[in-house]
Formats: sequence, structure tokens, C-alpha cells
Amino acid sequence: MENVLRGKNIIIGISGGIAAYKTPLLVRLLKKCGAHVRVVLTESATRFVSELALATVSEERVYRSLFPPADTTGVDYTRHISLGEWADAFVIAPATANTLARLSTGLCDDMLTALFLTLRPGKPVVVFPAMDGQMFLSPSVQRNIAILSAQGCMVINPDIGELASGLSGVGRMPEPESIVSSLEKAMNATADSSLLYGKSVVVTAGPTREKIDGVRFISNYSSGKMGFAIARAAAERGALVTLITGPVQLETPPGVKRLDVETAMEMYDVAENFFKSCNIFIGAAAVSDYRPAAPFEGKMKKEKPEIEITLIKNPDILAEFGKQKAQGQLAVGFALETHAGLDNARKKLNAKNLDLIAFNFFDRKTSGFEVDTNILTLIDKEGTTTELPQLTKDDAAEKLLDFIEKLCLKT
Ligand code: C5P
Repeated sequence: MENVLRGKNIIIGISGGIAAYKTPLLVRLLKKCGAHVRVVLTESATRFVSELALATVSEERVYRSLFPPADTTGVDYTRHISLGEWADAFVIAPATANTLARLSTGLCDDMLTALFLTLRPGKPVVVFPAMDGQMFLSPSVQRNIAILSAQGCMVINPDIGELASGLSGVGRMPEPESIVSSLEKAMNATADSSLLYGKSVVVTAGPTREKIDGVRFISNYSSGKMGFAIARAAAERGALVTLITGPVQLETPPGVKRLDVETAMEMYDVAENFFKSCNIFIGAAAVSDYRPAAPFEGKMKKEKPEIEITLIKNPDILAEFGKQKAQGQLAVGFALETHAGLDNARKKLNAKNLDLIAFNFFDRKTSGFEVDTNILTLIDKEGTTTELPQLTKDDAAEKLLDFIEKLCLKT
């Protein structure tokens, strides 16, 4: 594949979070791709990463203050403008809560924020928020992210994992390799190629497993193929895709951020992190409706002639998103039905407050679980019903996304 970064001018804006210590490696990776890299730091970033290291790996001076030293002459006084003209793309990693707030309000009290304003139109800005999980999920940070996304910035959801505080959760900056691949995607896609370009799309896929004991579980036949096809197609259209999947035997589609879970509760806990920040939530997972109330520790013995397992209800992930979704966010679901299909699908659309539901005909030969094809009927909030023929799951995903793009136009 052609290297889109070769010869490109990339600015890395670094703000003051612990993940800043990884940025010299990011600079090296970009240089290896043949990009010209210049680095701009906030004042607090200098506490986490050395200017000398960044200047050495970038082979360029590093920028911080808007005000050059007193003995400077010429272009340095307007450096924030010439850098904005120079850049083919601007990566902000890590983007702290403070920097997100300054960027979203248009403040320009240092080189990084001023540069954000002088960048030439159409140049990709890829932002990597990284901070404590609670800070990331706070309404203020989420609002600022929404503002930046609405302006066309690609805001990449942080990873989930260990945080500097010792806590675990959402908030980690993606690894430098993953930042490079997001940037490549941003440079490849063009803003006018798809309405999904730069949108944050969360897809759930696959089955869940609900533990009966240490070695047994309740599950279903879902293969995850439909959800993975949607994730792949959305990423190809330039969306920023987070795929939350139960146990499946499938390769992660290129450019998709994949999070593996096992149970419905785990899927809910992970999905909840993205309720506020995503633009589109697509529930393609076959989530178990019930789970054993008290899974047995270890392996159950077959001593009794019969046993009873009490099942309790799992949370409905998609319905919860439907309840919480804000103006402009879209909720899309699937309804796999064996009888009274269309009526049940319509009821689900309303009950879960969805914008679109795909009624999934189920016969296990041409449509539904495991097979490579699907027969979908799409129903939107206005009751418009579109019957699709039998299609491969890849083609069905494209049709579904075409329909979602039409809904994007209306929101
Ligand atoms: O109500 P039913 O399970 O048929 O709804 C199916 C839709 O709801 C699918 O989109 C599925 O991904 C989603 N769902 C969910 N959480 C559940 C059950 C279903 O997100 N616990």
C-alpha cells in the first residue's frame, strides 16, 4: 500500500499528561514513514517529556511559547502562522482535559492552541484525549469533545486499561503505532467521501457467555460476522470505529479499535464508556437476555438427578443507550425474530428509542446466525420500511450504512 505519510508535514501537539512520555517514539515512527515532523508542546507537557529528546528525534527545534526570545528577528514572530501553513496534518496526543477545553473554546494562549486556529482548512486534526477515566467521562470533557468533533476534528476514543492513578478504566492514550495508523486513515479519507467520515461509531458484535459454573456457560449461535462487517465498512468510510465483541473467531478489521468481552455485564460496562461520546451506536451483538443468578464456583458435579438454575435479566445495552442518547446521536439495533418479525421489530424500535432497526430474518441457511448472508428489512422511526434481498453480510453492512448516512443528513 502506498505510504500516505511519505513527504508529509506533520505537527505533533503534546499537552501535559503522563502519556506524553511516549511521544518521542511516535515522532520516530512518523519519521520512519518518511514524514517531516515538528513538535509543539504546552508548558505542562515539558514536565512529562524532554524538549531535548523531541528535538533530537524530530531533527527540528521544538516549539512552545508564542513569544520568541528577545534577540529573535524575522519569521519567528509569526511562527504560529507559518507552522499552520506548513502542516499537512495536526496530531494532538495526548490531549488533556485542559487542552481540550482551550481548543474547543478557541483560546490561543500558547503555540499549540494558536496553531490549531491557523491550520489551513481541510487539513486533518486528529485528537487523542488521554486522562483519568472519570475526568474523560465528565460532562464538561464530553461536551468539549463533541464541539471539536462537530468542527471536523477526528477525536479518537482513549483505550481502556491501566491508568497512571493505579485505577483501571477508559482514558489511556493509544500506543504510538495505533496513533500512526489513525493518522494514516485520516490522511487517506477525505471529508467529502462519506457522511460517516470522522464520526465516532460504536458497534457491539458476537454472542455473550453467561457463566453457569467455572467451565460451562449459556450462549447462542452468533458468529459476530454481521457486526464485524459493519465495523469494517464503517472504518472504510472514515469512521472512528470501536468494536465491542463477545467471543468470536474473527480477525479485527483494519483500523478498528476492538475491545473483547465475555459476558453481557462486561459488554454493558465497556459500552457505557462510549455512550456520551459516540455519534452512532449500532447494537449487532446477540446479547444474552438472562444470566445465572449465582454461578457455581468451580465445576458442578452431576450428583443430583435434576438441578434448577435461576436466571436473572441482563441490562439491555442498546435500550440504555436509546434512553440516554442526546440530540444528534443515532441508535441502531437488530431484531432477530422467528415469528411476527416485522411487528416485533417495530415494537423494539419504539421501546428502545432507536432511530433504525434491522429486522433479521432467521433460518440459519440464508439469514441469521453463523451464515455468510443475511436478509434484512430496515425500519426507521418514521415507519419507512426497506426490504433488502439476500446479500452477503459485507453487502448488507454497506446498505445499512447507506441508510444510516441518510439518517445523518436529517439529524
Ligand atoms: O430485545 P432484543 O434482544 O431482541 O433486541 C435486539 C437488539 O438489542 C440488538 O440490536 C441487540 O444488540 C440489542 N441488545 C442489547 N442488549 C441486550 C439485549 C439486546 O444491546 N441485553
